[in-house]
Amino acid sequence: MSGGYVNLDNASLTGVSVAFVSKYIALEGGDGSGKSTVAVALATRIETDGGEVVMVREPGGTPLGEVVRGLLLDSDRLDDWAEVFLFAAQRAELAREVIAPALSAGKWVVSDRTYYSSIAYQGRGRGLGEDEVRAINEKGLDGVVPDHVFVLDVDPETALARQHAADRIGKEGVDFQEKVRAAYLGLAESEPDKVVVLDGSLPADKLVDLIAAVVL
Ligand code: TMP
Repeated sequence: MSGGYVNLDNASLTGVSVAFVSKYIALEGGDGSGKSTVAVALATRIETDGGEVVMVREPGGTPLGEVVRGLLLDSDRLDDWAEVFLFAAQRAELAREVIAPALSAGKWVVSDRTYYSSIAYQGRGRGLGEDEVRAINEKGLDGVVPDHVFVLDVDPETALARQHAADRIGKEGVDFQEKVRAAYLGLAESEPDKVVVLDGSLPADKLVDLIAAVVL
């Protein structure tokens, strides 16, 4: 990877303004990258620091979103564009019903995936176009987008091997995950103030240290 992983010494390079605390934090990465564990550990760290945290996951996080999650991950097959729109639909609902109210109330939001997953998985992995998939999602989000996106980067072969049970999309295999990984690395290059790549092989508490150095 060209830019290298962020560390405590260059965390300030992410351009965080001290005058405005950005509280919508996303964990991203390929299947089996360990982001769910880190999301929980990060939420605990923020709470220890005195913050109130709402944790969400995508797909899911609302009654409608959890139903759509089942359709997306448990169906035998699904048209690629139907997949894009179902992800975008559950996301619009989550943004308006849960995330925007939480942020308005001064709470933190820690999200296990966001529309950056769709850009990487559907845009690059499925080959539907990163710009197209981004535009479809941003339309429904109306500005409710993460302030910081942390990508846990793990070699796809290692990551897939440590997964307990793969869902429909996780079963796509290593080549697909390589495309997803390339998309995330590209996003970090094109949006360096927002998207930060971390070495996903580090222990969760070390990863939380790195994230906390940026966001807290
Ligand atoms: P999870 O394993 O993090 O629960 O994510 C569920 C699966 O859905 C995983 O294979 C990644 C995939 N996914 C997409 O393809 N696009 C998306 O927008 C999201 C949120 C997840």
